[in-house]
Amino acid sequence: MLTLFPEMFPGPLGVSLAGRALASGLWALEARDIRDSATDRHRSVDDSPAGGGPGMVLRADVLAAAIDAADSGPDRPRLLMSPRGRPLTQSQVVELAAGPGPLIVCGRFEGVDQRVIAARGLEEVSIGDYVLSGGEIAAMALIDACVRLLPGVMGKPGSSTEESFSDGLLEYPQYTRPQEFEGQPIPEILISGDHAKVTAWRLAEAEALTRARRPDLWAAKNRDQKPPKNTTKG
Ligand code: ADE
Repeated sequence: MLTLFPEMFPGPLGVSLAGRALASGLWALEARDIRDSATDRHRSVDDSPAGGGPGMVLRADVLAAAIDAADSGPDRPRLLMSPRGRPLTQSQVVELAAGPGPLIVCGRFEGVDQRVIAARGLEEVSIGDYVLSGGEIAAMALIDACVRLLPGVMGKPGSSTEESFSDGLLEYPQYTRPQEFEGQPIPEILISGDHAKVTAWRLAEAEALTRARRPDLWAAKNRDQKPPKNTTKG
């Protein structure tokens, strides 16, 4: 992890599920200060954009030196948190969690000099179509999503597979006690004890929810699961 604010870490990753797993050594985090790679008297890491415009840009030479100092081996993905990046998906999270652990660069300012992105093979990753003031909170979101998939982190293995996105659907609604809340009972089928009916009901609910809220996911699921019938091999 490369950041201008190493003191932000582990932050929320130091408590709860991720925090317990961190304390027990199931994962590790090294937050390094990009500023330690600055070479001038003022330890400057940024400068004004070539061509003019507002804000400041993270310098290529300083960030490259920070990446090289943190060098993590050729197999580790190098990610740059950026609103310009490819949107993070659960399948990418699953892939990252199965790998050696990424080197994550957190940007600040208006951006990062394009030359270091190319020269160090940084893969830009976004956590959504909105702009944060820096990559740190985005990195925490990514790390949290990965850590909870690591073996031994979550109590019940099933709880990570039967949830939103693992099968391209949003999660079905959940209920627990009390039996009646402000006049609303738990749907009867869920207390019927008929497991096949419960499963069918949950699937129908998940599908209806996905259709209504995320037509993009619904279309993708139908596209992926029903390949065209008349494709022939030439
Ligand atoms: N940095 C600033 N905004 C971001 C976003 N939406 N995703 C990832 N990194 C960011």
